[in-house]
Amino acid sequence: MPKAIILSGGWGTRLRPLTCTIPKTLIPICNKPVMERQILLLKAAGVTEIVLAVSVMADVIKDYFKEGEKLGIKISYTDEIFPAGTAGAIKLAEDILKDDNFFMLNGDVILNFDFSRMLQFHIKSKAFGTIASKIIEDPSHYGVIIANQNTNKIEKFLEKEEYKPPTGGFVPMPINSGVYLLEPEILSYIPSNKKVSIEREVFPKITEEREVYHYPIEGIWKDIGKPYDLLQGNISLMNDLIQNLSEEHKSLVDYSAQINPTSKIIHPCVIGEKTIIRQNCIIGPNAIIGDNVFIDDNCVLKNSIIYNESYISNNVEIENAIISDNCAIGDNAHLKGIEDKLILLSSYVKVMKGVKIINDFNDYYSVCHHEVVSESLKK
Ligand code: GDD
Ligand code: MG
Repeated sequence: MPKAIILSGGWGTRLRPLTCTIPKTLIPICNKPVMERQILLLKAAGVTEIVLAVSVMADVIKDYFKEGEKLGIKISYTDEIFPAGTAGAIKLAEDILKDDNFFMLNGDVILNFDFSRMLQFHIKSKAFGTIASKIIEDPSHYGVIIANQNTNKIEKFLEKEEYKPPTGGFVPMPINSGVYLLEPEILSYIPSNKKVSIEREVFPKITEEREVYHYPIEGIWKDIGKPYDLLQGNISLMNDLIQNLSEEHKSLVDYSAQINPTSKIIHPCVIGEKTIIRQNCIIGPNAIIGDNVFIDDNCVLKNSIIYNESYISNNVEIENAIISDNCAIGDNAHLKGIEDKLILLSSYVKVMKGVKIINDFNDYYSVCHHEVVSESLKK
């Protein structure tokens, strides 16, 4: 069975200020870190050993996963002193990866698909490398795959800035989803002790020289690049996870959550461990609430994510927002993003009583960690 390596090295600048306190790959998606969800999918396909290529906030990630005891899978870490790039990062794990083919994943993509089918495809096509792909309407933000439509053999791999759309605008194309299955010989294409990019320096070369195929992902795939993508990614995964539940149970509510019967849950929602929802609240649709969150009387919450340990006081209204962990929202506060314009609170933010923040202007209005918001604002 292949081993796997997951990359967790970027700063996640487009998700700041959320990523000032949480490494991008530990950002929760429906209450579990994006990288933990990937590890569980790999485990379900039979993978027993994973290397995490960590650099930014490495200690926080090591402290979370340790040696994998909680997830029941062997986890080790590379020692990356300076950011080695996406290929340089796997070269550092050469000793562990050199004997067999291995999965390689970008740790910042939301996935829900069967890795064992990708492995079968890879073996059947006798590929040197298999790149999981997804058809995207506007491929300009991703690596683009040009392939033989009958065999899926990749003829050209063009990273974002290399791809020039045909005149008349973008056409849907298969893009690089950041999930690969590679033969160990690929490591010989990567020089040691050097920053090397797999997308810019290795894939363009091996797609010309070797048999590299793309494998269209059937399930969920979403890059969590920007805050709006993060909210949409949570909602897509939630809808995927509840697919097989009966109509009256189309929400994922932990058995230890306490919801007062006067409060209404409008499906779909996710409600985490030991979260308390008091009286006369209207929660949902699309409310994703973490563990140990307290929501007091008469609150209205929709199309939003609340991470663990936050406290929401009486009569609060929250819509189109992402509220990080340990925030406190005072009585009668309103946090409202209009449509795709979001409100973003980083960890430990305090919003005082009666404050109203409405964002109808910027992609997102954000508050840095530990800030106290005491004045209303309309953008
Ligand atoms: N360890 C380590 N060291 N990891 C790194 C480094 C590094 O120096 N640089 C980037 N990474 C990790 C990031 O944490 C992320 O998980 C992954 O490598 C990809 O880097 P991003 O910076 O997120 O790249 P991107 O999203 O712009 O583009 C890549 O992913 C797209 C799919 O989401 C490319 O591979 C595209 O071709 C692809 O379409
Ligand atoms: Mg990315």
